[in-house]
Amino acid sequence: MTRPDAPTRALIIGCGIIGKHHGIVLTRHPDFEVTALVDPVVASAEAVADTVVEEGAERPVIYGSIADALSSGTVDLAVICTPSGLHIQQATECLEHDVHLVVEKPLDVSVALGTRFAELAAKAAERGLMVSVISQHRFDPGATVIRKAIDEQQFGTLTSAVATMAWYRSQQYYDSGDWRGTWALDGGGAVMNQGVHTVDLLRWFLGRPTEIYAHTAQLAHQRIEIEDTATATVRFESGALAVIHCTTAAYPGLTARVQVHGSHGSAILDNDELRYFHTGDGAVADNLRSAAVTGNQAADVLGASDADEYANSRNQPDGFVLGHLRQYDDIAGALKDKRSPLVDVNEALLSLALVRSLYVSATLGQPVLFDDVLNGRYDDVVATVTQAPAQAAAEVAK
Ligand SMILES: NC(=O)c1ccc[n+]([C@@H]2O[C@H](COP(=O)([O-])OP(=O)(O)OC[C@H]3O[C@@H](n4cnc5c(N)ncnc54)[C@H](O)[C@@H]3O)[C@@H](O)[C@H]2O)c1
Repeated sequence: MTRPDAPTRALIIGCGIIGKHHGIVLTRHPDFEVTALVDPVVASAEAVADTVVEEGAERPVIYGSIADALSSGTVDLAVICTPSGLHIQQATECLEHDVHLVVEKPLDVSVALGTRFAELAAKAAERGLMVSVISQHRFDPGATVIRKAIDEQQFGTLTSAVATMAWYRSQQYYDSGDWRGTWALDGGGAVMNQGVHTVDLLRWFLGRPTEIYAHTAQLAHQRIEIEDTATATVRFESGALAVIHCTTAAYPGLTARVQVHGSHGSAILDNDELRYFHTGDGAVADNLRSAAVTGNQAADVLGASDADEYANSRNQPDGFVLGHLRQYDDIAGALKDKRSPLVDVNEALLSLALVRSLYVSATLGQPVLFDDVLNGRYDDVVATVTQAPAQAAAEVAK
């Protein structure tokens, strides 16, 4: 449990790329300190301990197991940075020890596990415990400006959106860890691992999805089970329509972009920055080209928001550190005020279910209803990018 006025003591579970990153972020954040580390590869844990010391804090203790770390009495918050398919199993163990939790994205690879875990997290909240799932791009100034505009209905009726991530990951990247590119531990490819941020923003902006129709393919990589390219169309409860495009096979790697369009306005986020923003009263001329050229209010709305102050107050850390620092601000606020964090388990579960809906649809070769996926109808569908869609659909129909 959190001690009043003392930094929240964090255990990092999984000391790979993102575990080290959390080591830096938590040490730089005034409300947290890293006291404990767990990783079966001791050299990885030692490397994160070195990083925390380089950042100017005391060396955290390396424990042989989660249970040992959580029994030490030195941990208030567990931060799960392991391969995605281990997240809920380890999160469940942590909640049994009554610590607060931060889980890296995605929540897990299984909607069924996610649904059960949401119930556990709700019970934990009754005991005063907080659980947040990382989705740091929700805290980017451009994203918060768009979400506020949507809340205030500045775009009028939301009509459509495009979420595209045209990135590149080398074969070496997929070969760098046994878990990468596997259904069991990565849970998917371009959409589940890299694209989930963009998908989460799309869902945060447009609301609850109702129907998804997707295609996936593995086109430019080998020795992986999952897709490196995916497209989907999504219908939302509001009636709005969206396109999802995620690939890790767009050499040399371009941007992630979300476009939101409505009857009275549009906005474009590109590489986390607000590139275009326009709202009006609907009385502008029917000349979209001229509106796009002359009507960009992005600088005005960003300047008017206070979202940039954080960056200035932290000596402008790099964008990746800044993103997690911003989310840890929300987590610190949730702990202090005993409120839910912005990205709680239910929020993360909906985004996981949207990604899984895309895979189920691609596997079956047919549109699927979001609620059916969320409610477990397709839990038994083993996602694939190689099985002939017609054959898979016939098997489900049997
Ligand atoms: N928010 C983001 O922008 C972001 C970026 C990268 C990764 N991630 C997420 O972070 C997670 C880890 O990704 P990564 O790139 O750091 O992977 P990684 O392979 O670099 O690190 C994973 C670490 O977990 C350790 N590990 C494996 N099994 C473990 C266990 N049972 N107990 C404790 N530690 C164990 C491994 O030894 C390794 O050090 C994934 O879920 C990924 O989706 C999020």
